[in-house]
Amino acid sequence: MKLLVTGSNGFLAGSVIAQVPTHITLHGLCRNKLEKSSIDIVHHAFDLTDFNTLEEIIHSIRPDSIIHTAAISNIDTCETNKIIAEQVNVDVTRQLAQLANDIDCKLIFCSTDSIFDGIHGFYTEEDIPHAVNVYAATKIKAEQIVLKANKKNAVARFSLIVGLPVINAGNSFLSTLIDKIKKGDDIQLPSNEIRTPIDVITAGKALIELAENDFSGIIHLAGNTSLTRYELGLEIASIFNFPKHKILPINSNSLPGRAPRPNNASLDNSKAKQYLETPMLSIIDGLTLSLNFKLPEDE
Ligand SMILES: NC(=O)c1ccc[n+]([C@@H]2O[C@H](COP(=O)([O-])OP(=O)(O)OC[C@H]3O[C@@H](n4cnc5c(N)ncnc54)[C@H](OP(=O)(O)O)[C@@H]3O)[C@@H](O)[C@H]2O)c1
Repeated sequence: MKLLVTGSNGFLAGSVIAQVPTHITLHGLCRNKLEKSSIDIVHHAFDLTDFNTLEEIIHSIRPDSIIHTAAISNIDTCETNKIIAEQVNVDVTRQLAQLANDIDCKLIFCSTDSIFDGIHGFYTEEDIPHAVNVYAATKIKAEQIVLKANKKNAVARFSLIVGLPVINAGNSFLSTLIDKIKKGDDIQLPSNEIRTPIDVITAGKALIELAENDFSGIIHLAGNTSLTRYELGLEIASIFNFPKHKILPINSNSLPGRAPRPNNASLDNSKAKQYLETPMLSIIDGLTLSLNFKLPEDE
């Protein structure tokens, strides 16, 4: 089996790449080649908005599955760079979906809990998305493109992904938090944003499973614990033995210059538990798994 991972220098992609079993031939699309000697992967470095190169590469590799993690994943960056957000999150996904369909390759698209407005929480795959920011709007459009392009495609909607970076930090919430704590900064975390965080190791493992199995349609990949970002900060502080008084609750709706976020974007993970062998974990078990994960070269 040949697997292609886009955004291969990203936070989530690092976990996928590190866990791909040896019977799978692995290719990664990234903007800069960052070689990791212990991992058997062929990197192809170019910007995904270069559609001619994208077509050439897809036709030469002819993957069986593509895990599409590449995105402008920072919500505030999307809000202030609408054109680039649309190009990368929507137009690239459209092009990739078409190219994958041409060779009858399964495309797994990484989406987000942010597509919901956060009014009631505990969303199932049947709930109707409603964007409260540009990032969410681009992800909703891209989901629809992917699902329409080929019946075998899958949309994996992730809750907040937590854990230490496996290869690269990318958009890791925990890395940013740890850096701030080490500097001695106070950390303000929203007490109004409820999430069901999934650890990065489980997230990567579930994506590999989706690349290998015949699941199609939408699936929510989320942990078993529903908590606010502030409560998550306190959990992390106790695991890392950081001073808890440095973690302060704020209402994110009152912060100027920050894109709106859904209040309660918690996801119901029942479908993932029914269809996947990869277990969905509690926040403590997920963080523990991530902290104990080692690349082969580290063992
Ligand atoms: N992290 C979370 O909590 C979370 C939660 C829900 C959903 N998701 C989704 O999961 C996916 C992965 O997230 P992540 O946290 O791993 O994000 P990330 O660390 O920001 O990784 C995204 C990758 O996309 C690449 N990329 C962006 N624009 C590109 C372009 N024009 N050409 C080539 N590559 C490009 C970036 O490359 P560079 O390294 O060169 O910038 C980056 O490596 C995203 O689709 C995100 O929306 C993430």
